[in-house]
Amino acid sequence: MIKYIDLKAINEPYIHAADEVLQGGWYLKGEYTRRFEQAYARYIGTRHCIGCGNGLDALTLIFRAYKEMGVMKEGDEVIVPANTYIASILAITENRLLPVLVEPSADTLQINDRLIEQAITPRTRAVMIVHLYGRCAYTDKIGEICRHHDLKLIEDNAQAHGCRFLSPLTSYLSPQRTGSLGDAAGHSFYPTKNLGAFGDAGAVTTNDDELAKTVEALGNYGSSRKYVFDYAGRNSRIDELQAAMLLAKLPHLDAANGRRKEIAQRYQQEIVNSQVRLWPSCSGQRNDAVLPDSVYHIFPVFSTERDRLQRYLADNGVETQIHYPIPPHHQKCFSNWSSLSLPLTERIHAEELSIPCHQAMTDEDVSRIVSLLNSAP
Ligand SMILES: Cc1ncc(COP(=O)(O)O)c(C=O)c1O
Repeated sequence: MIKYIDLKAINEPYIHAADEVLQGGWYLKGEYTRRFEQAYARYIGTRHCIGCGNGLDALTLIFRAYKEMGVMKEGDEVIVPANTYIASILAITENRLLPVLVEPSADTLQINDRLIEQAITPRTRAVMIVHLYGRCAYTDKIGEICRHHDLKLIEDNAQAHGCRFLSPLTSYLSPQRTGSLGDAAGHSFYPTKNLGAFGDAGAVTTNDDELAKTVEALGNYGSSRKYVFDYAGRNSRIDELQAAMLLAKLPHLDAANGRRKEIAQRYQQEIVNSQVRLWPSCSGQRNDAVLPDSVYHIFPVFSTERDRLQRYLADNGVETQIHYPIPPHHQKCFSNWSSLSLPLTERIHAEELSIPCHQAMTDEDVSRIVSLLNSAP
């Protein structure tokens, strides 16, 4: 069986980090947290990194902080891609802000920057972009729209640790990492992510000093001084076990992403079957080259016979996943959106299948998957 992801193999070299924490006897708000926050901020290229409990909390705390700072208030609108994991949207609704769903572009499957402008109203306060599948969703145009309309730009970087934005306008020589492109970013270190922990963990990165201070206090019951509470906050912290693990893994992230890119390149070049369409194009067009602005958290393929293809691969020993089977606007929790028509989003959710793509795969695993896909009925 080729597993979708093999966490045991991926994490084996870092188990010593957990031992160090257990032997040290200090489990929260300690040296590993401080060192990881510093190292990750340096890696992403921001002044601040604040560890928190998970990726959903990271995004939720950003919006909550903006509300505490008077930048946003209940009922304000936030533009967000319609084709995202539900957590991006929950972070908005949990703060009683209004998500405005925008369709992706058919070429990139990332939020369509042309449609962003059309969705702006006098109540719009922010645009959230999601670097879905590990590919950079930022464009120079999005940056320009946010500056022009004075909107906050929030990045959901849960799936794209290490990804870089390659601007056609500015230099390719010093590309910025996702997580440093907007006003603030939420990161998830859920175990299967490119930089994954031993359990739940997340972080906020930002260059905004006030936002950083507010997020940190909000995740610490609302307190920045012991037993003094400026906000009615919550408890959302990264623990020392997760921080130590992430600190040990971080120096190897680029190499792991490099291996993902090698595998993706082989898929792009070798999968040839008219029934199995490759990303980035949903429209059947092939693209043989690896995408330079992707760290391939997910390698999606698309088929009108997606469920049959998934069964065929499973019957032949390959585990796959679907990201995601039901779009957010068709979920029961958002029944007020049930009549919305978002055809491209719906098509992606109906046709997407994620095939294994991670650093613990062998060349033989890749060959087997290619050969199975090429002979898929
Ligand atoms: C795009 C996206 N946003 C947010 C999250 C939420 O992260 P977490 O699971 O750490 O809460 C995830 C994780 O699954 C995600 O994929």
